[in-house]
Amino acid sequence: MNEQKLYHPVQIGSVTIKGNVFLAPLAGYTDIPFRTLCIDAGADLTFTEMVSAEGLAREGEKTLALLERAPNEEQYAVQLFMGNTDSLKAALTQLESYHPTIIDINCGCPVPKVTKTGAGSSMMKNPSLITEVVKIITSESNIPVSVKFRTGWDAQSENYLEFAQAALDGGASMLTLHARTRTQGYAPFADWAKLRSLKEYIQDHGYAVPVFGSGDLFKAEDAKLMLEQTGIDGVMFARGAIGNPFIFTQAKAILQGKEPQPISVEMRRDMIIRHLDLMITSFGEKTACTLMRKHTCSYLKGIPNTSSVKHAIVQASKRDQYLDALRVLVDL
Ligand SMILES: Cc1cc2nc3c(=O)[nH]c(=O)nc-3n(C[C@H](O)[C@H](O)[C@H](O)COP(=O)(O)O)c2cc1C
Repeated sequence: MNEQKLYHPVQIGSVTIKGNVFLAPLAGYTDIPFRTLCIDAGADLTFTEMVSAEGLAREGEKTLALLERAPNEEQYAVQLFMGNTDSLKAALTQLESYHPTIIDINCGCPVPKVTKTGAGSSMMKNPSLITEVVKIITSESNIPVSVKFRTGWDAQSENYLEFAQAALDGGASMLTLHARTRTQGYAPFADWAKLRSLKEYIQDHGYAVPVFGSGDLFKAEDAKLMLEQTGIDGVMFARGAIGNPFIFTQAKAILQGKEPQPISVEMRRDMIIRHLDLMITSFGEKTACTLMRKHTCSYLKGIPNTSSVKHAIVQASKRDQYLDALRVLVDL
């Protein structure tokens, strides 16, 4: 396979995205600060956290805040979830003024609070709903629609090809398969063979709709492996990007046949500080320090002897205290 070809632009309906290495939607993570860092590191398209269509229709303040664009985010996808179409038109009215590049529909969330409303991975049990949802959006707006889904609700009811067809029937312009069932949650291993079979299905049926893959993309090299093994059009980093926005720079280098730059402890420390500062701008100092705990633990993963840092950041509620805790990292 020609390595140059692994990294390429992607056409999603009327929109061209400059490359095929995306940041997946991650509730509790893909806020403005994190997306800013991932874009700087090379993510070609970023997704918001999932946004309730019903909350949008009600113009909930917290919901509307999720739609804000990062300053360096020229293109972005807003991910919506809904268990029915009741609020969809009102939600779209709210959404239009934010001019998202793509509207993505969440058909993969396994959380009971979401699935019991018929949303998230529950949609897998109801393919006609995704047809209806996509149809409504494409008739009400010119924004291309993508659909992110799992292989099925459980192993006995895997229906990702039928579900993909239902999304295409509605007019979807992109498909992302998280290659696990709802029952599997996030447990190892994602079944990449199903990505290949989805891509083949799309090709065999003559659709020019890009297929993206999600699941077990933990290292930069995994992007290349997934693209080579499955023939799909692009990848979405999820947990692999948490505590490691560098994964985008490295993955794109690898896909272009170049040697990826190694990431030093100092680079990670500087990234934590930048992340903290962006968090402070978005959420204020105290909340930023609290929110940064989970991110920082992820940044520190694999660096030996960091338990004292982890202990100190849990106590920190001010930027200075946080920086003090991180100081030890240069001397490691
Ligand atoms: C903490 C967390 C939050 C997530 N939030 C969302 C979400 O809001 N919308 C969505 O479609 N998927 C969400 N996902 C799923 C990821 O986008 C991705 O499909 C999944 O983690 C598989 O990729 P990975 O194995 O490479 O992490 C979430 C996953 C995690 C771990």
